Amino acid sequence: MSGQRWGTRIGLVLAMAGNAVGLGNFLRFPAQAAQHGGGAFLVPYLVSFLLMGIPLLWVEWAIGRHGGRYGHHSAPGMLDRLGPQPWLKYVGVFGLFTNLTVAAYYCYIESWTLAYVWHSIVGTFRQVAPSAFFPDYLGMREDSLLAVPRQALFWFLATLTLNVWLLSRGLTRGIELAAKIGMPLLLVFASVLAIRGLLLEPGAGGVVQSPMVGLNFVWQPQVSGLLDPSTWLAAAGQVFFTLSVGMGSIHCYASYLRERDDIALNAAAAGWMNEFVEVVLGGTILIPIATAYLGLEAVQAATAGGSGFGLGFLTLPTLFASWGWFAPIAGAMWFGLLFFAGVTSSLAMGQPVVAFLQDELRVEHRKAALTFGAATLLLGFVCVWLYPGGSFDEFDFWSGTFSLVVFALGESIIFAWIFGMDRGWEEITRGADMHVPGVFRFVIRFVTPAFILVVFVGALVEPVGRWGAAVRSLFTGGGWPFSPTSVIGRVAHVGEQEYRWLDETGEFTRSFVQDATRLLLLAVFIACGLLVWKAWRLRAEERA
Ligand code: ALA
Repeated sequence: MSGQRWGTRIGLVLAMAGNAVGLGNFLRFPAQAAQHGGGAFLVPYLVSFLLMGIPLLWVEWAIGRHGGRYGHHSAPGMLDRLGPQPWLKYVGVFGLFTNLTVAAYYCYIESWTLAYVWHSIVGTFRQVAPSAFFPDYLGMREDSLLAVPRQALFWFLATLTLNVWLLSRGLTRGIELAAKIGMPLLLVFASVLAIRGLLLEPGAGGVVQSPMVGLNFVWQPQVSGLLDPSTWLAAAGQVFFTLSVGMGSIHCYASYLRERDDIALNAAAAGWMNEFVEVVLGGTILIPIATAYLGLEAVQAATAGGSGFGLGFLTLPTLFASWGWFAPIAGAMWFGLLFFAGVTSSLAMGQPVVAFLQDELRVEHRKAALTFGAATLLLGFVCVWLYPGGSFDEFDFWSGTFSLVVFALGESIIFAWIFGMDRGWEEITRGADMHVPGVFRFVIRFVTPAFILVVFVGALVEPVGRWGAAVRSLFTGGGWPFSPTSVIGRVAHVGEQEYRWLDETGEFTRSFVQDATRLLLLAVFIACGLLVWKAWRLRAEERA
């Protein structure tokens, strides 16, 4: 099936938009915005989108379509085609590793949404408060970090089965079909909830203030955010995650295009559609509804950590309960839209892995889909099982945040400087149905790689507190106060009271779970690298 092509242009754009539009749009974006001052977040976010997001989209579509011409539908082979250097294909290992490991924890969140659709419809939240249901569902127990949450495991298996089934049906009958059904439904559900939310009247049924307060908070741009490097880091991180750039999934989808098919307009359309869904719809549901009932301060407190899980899975179903007959429908729509957003993204994570197994290791299509499912199950089980110990957060950081930046940095430099900007520009503009402004030639060559480099270094050394204070501390002999959430801070376990693997009762500690998860991720990365090495040896043998 490696001669596969997209069935229709609308199917391609919806699949690409579905790849981008995901849980990140409805949960992560509002939470990140709330954490970083609402409108103050928006300005660095939009600048990052223009200087980094859009250029990376064009670069990735171009690398993908170029690789597809040589029969490569995954990052190692595509990067290998960008220059004569044999190490290029190993940069592409990120495009396998990230998709596989992000899929593992992403499908887990996706499975919560499916479970919550069910529980909204059957009325579980009328009997059990979501605040009691959610920790229990996740297996958060006082006495052990190692209890297996059975219900969560069941829904995870169901979600994975659906993903594998869709992947095994192929590009048009699986991925494209899911996008053609899922995306319109998602837009309808999100619009209904956004409008219903904005119609909440202060004073009626527990509404304490106008939802407009929340909307203004998210949407009123404030330039103050431009001066805070941490806001920039968070904004750039959100642009990466929401567009699915730096993953290898866009490359894969673009590789099913023909040599002269447009990429310039398609990439821009999918990217802007994602922004519409994220800022307009994603920004109008979670924060305004929660603000109407709880007030802005409580909402900001509930988004600590920036994931949006608290508001999305605890607060919103609780608030919906006061919507009378509409409550189960609202719940089913909210979690249903999250599910559609999730599944169209997780399919995009599966396809590059399936394609790698097919193209480079000659695995038959169905077997390749099953292999992806089995690997995701094993890795995902670690997230399900060790969620309370922090395994999930490790996956999210190392795979879903850090790896994206590293891969994007690598590919942007390789594209502009090894493949070369002349060929690169020709690749982006060939068959283009829009005029790509010439300034982007300069942006792609200099600004985007420099921008990502700054983000990368910033993530390594992010301090606790304000950057100005950290610089003063460095120059006055106080040292650099690494934040526990910076890369170096994490590796060095900064801020942990006592670093040890077993507590006094002999139970494994959080530090142990974190270190074990990191070793696991490293092992997966090495295994992906070995597979690439094996594939190219196979190819050399075939040629000999
Ligand atoms: N781009 C996907 C999301 O936003 C991964 O969830």
